[in-house]
Amino acid sequence: MAQVSGISDEQTSTPMSSNTILLRISRFNPEHDDSSQFMEFTVPYERWTTVLEAILDVKKRFDHSVAVRYSCRQATCGSCGMMINGKPRLACFTKISELNSNVVTVEPMNNFPIIRDLAVKFERLFNTHQKIKPYLIRDDSELESDEKEFLQSPEEVEQYIQFANCIKCGLCNSACPTMATDSSFVGPQALAQAYRYVADSRDKGKDSRLKIIDDSHGIWRCHFAGSCSQVCPKGVDPAMGIQLLRGYLLGFRS
Ligand code: SF4
Ligand code: FES
Repeated sequence: MAQVSGISDEQTSTPMSSNTILLRISRFNPEHDDSSQFMEFTVPYERWTTVLEAILDVKKRFDHSVAVRYSCRQATCGSCGMMINGKPRLACFTKISELNSNVVTVEPMNNFPIIRDLAVKFERLFNTHQKIKPYLIRDDSELESDEKEFLQSPEEVEQYIQFANCIKCGLCNSACPTMATDSSFVGPQALAQAYRYVADSRDKGKDSRLKIIDDSHGIWRCHFAGSCSQVCPKGVDPAMGIQLLRGYLLGFRS
């Protein structure tokens, strides 16, 4: 059952459900709005209903103009990040029943420019990700040789494998207090990926990557708040990756 201010009872007629929440959706179009406003809908949910499904329910039955980005609906593509009750989360991976609240407020991710409503621009995230060279670097002569595989031991894989789970959702950058105050900060997502490749025994790009992150808007701007690691939906620990990278720069690791 959904209700939205300005819509008649007839228009809000929907299937009955014993459980409902008040879903508050932030609406903002930078082309003609000075500030955001919330639209409120009463929506039904079951134990398994996700926040994304509730938003899509509103789009389907009441206001198809609500802007939200999503694709996989299974916490894989990294598209549906947003602030849910004040915390960066994936909408497709957050069940309403787990929020323990009768009111669910959804807003665009912090620290990202808004395209419209819940959709934000990812350019900064993708640019900083690209900046740290997110690929294995080898000598051209090696790649042209007959050796096609660069094998690793389980111990070598263990050094970086959790960082390879990053889906570039940007939740860590959204939670980061330094991202909020330094528009040029490279950010926890890119730093975690710098560590992912630096720690990979097959890679030979460590020196160039360390040079990239060792600048005035780089790794030393991190205050180790740790909020990045708290919100990651894939178990990546950017805060730890940043500390381990500092170990390389300070000569504690090689
Ligand atoms: S480290 Fe985690 S929170 Fe950050 S972009 Fe990758 S998957 Fe998302
Ligand atoms: S829709 Fe792909 S991560 Fe949520």
